Amino acid sequence: MQTIRSITKMQKASRQLAARSKTIALVPTMGNLHEGHLSLIRCARKTADVVIVTIFVNPKQFGPKEDYKKYPRDEKNDIAKIKKAGGDIVFIPKATQIYPDDFQTYVTVEKLSQTLEGKSRPEHFRGVTTVVAKLFNITRPDVAIFGAKDFQQSKVLKQMTKDLGYPIKFVIAPTVREKDGLAMSSRNRYFTVEQRHQACCLYYALRTAREMVKSGIKDVRTIKSEMRAVIKATSPKCKIDYIAFTEFDSLKPVSKASKSTICSLAVCVHNVRLIDNMRL
Ligand code: PAF
Repeated sequence: MQTIRSITKMQKASRQLAARSKTIALVPTMGNLHEGHLSLIRCARKTADVVIVTIFVNPKQFGPKEDYKKYPRDEKNDIAKIKKAGGDIVFIPKATQIYPDDFQTYVTVEKLSQTLEGKSRPEHFRGVTTVVAKLFNITRPDVAIFGAKDFQQSKVLKQMTKDLGYPIKFVIAPTVREKDGLAMSSRNRYFTVEQRHQACCLYYALRTAREMVKSGIKDVRTIKSEMRAVIKATSPKCKIDYIAFTEFDSLKPVSKASKSTICSLAVCVHNVRLIDNMRL
């Protein structure tokens, strides 16, 4: 496996691969890889000749009070894991290369970026779409793979891919969960053992919502109030940011849940902001 740190070298490598008619699958990450990321790499392995994984903790998608500085970084282990999961190239650019001092061009997906996460993290998606557009331009993939845990992110990026006319097949791979249901996330590392258990409150709430819908209860207000009770019973001091029931494609809010509804939520457990979602 090759490690590339310079944009010019990465551009050259992608051009050479295209000239040899090799297809490229891209898995963008912020590093600190867990089983969720590795499942994306394994999925990429099945879709193209060459798998490029990027590691870049993107400063532009963190708010001023968020955890950019303390975001866990573990490059050496990440490289070993990528190699084992079947990556061919790992691209690790520096922030100063991606965003030189005079950087001033951003990509914004207007409507889809404004709801849910966008309300709580106003600059977040602009940072995500800008960096992913840059990574697309540098690596020129045929396929790009993102995880369903960041459901809104995948919708926003899919829209960007379509709107900007990138000739890229967009794949959204399922969320990988721990045995107890907690969605895998790099931020789970922040928890002590006791706190880690409380982090399951999101999954328990989503499971409750799904069971209620299955049993015929469709009223979103009734389901939300039960979800809040489940969350507080598991993690009494947590702060619920939002619980939202939206249409799967448009992300428009619904008042009656159905099979095409997705429930998304964000909860701060011991000051760690977690998100999760489930199709009902
Ligand atoms: O999902 C992530 O880890 C990031 O948002 C992404 C897509 C790598 C962009 O920085």
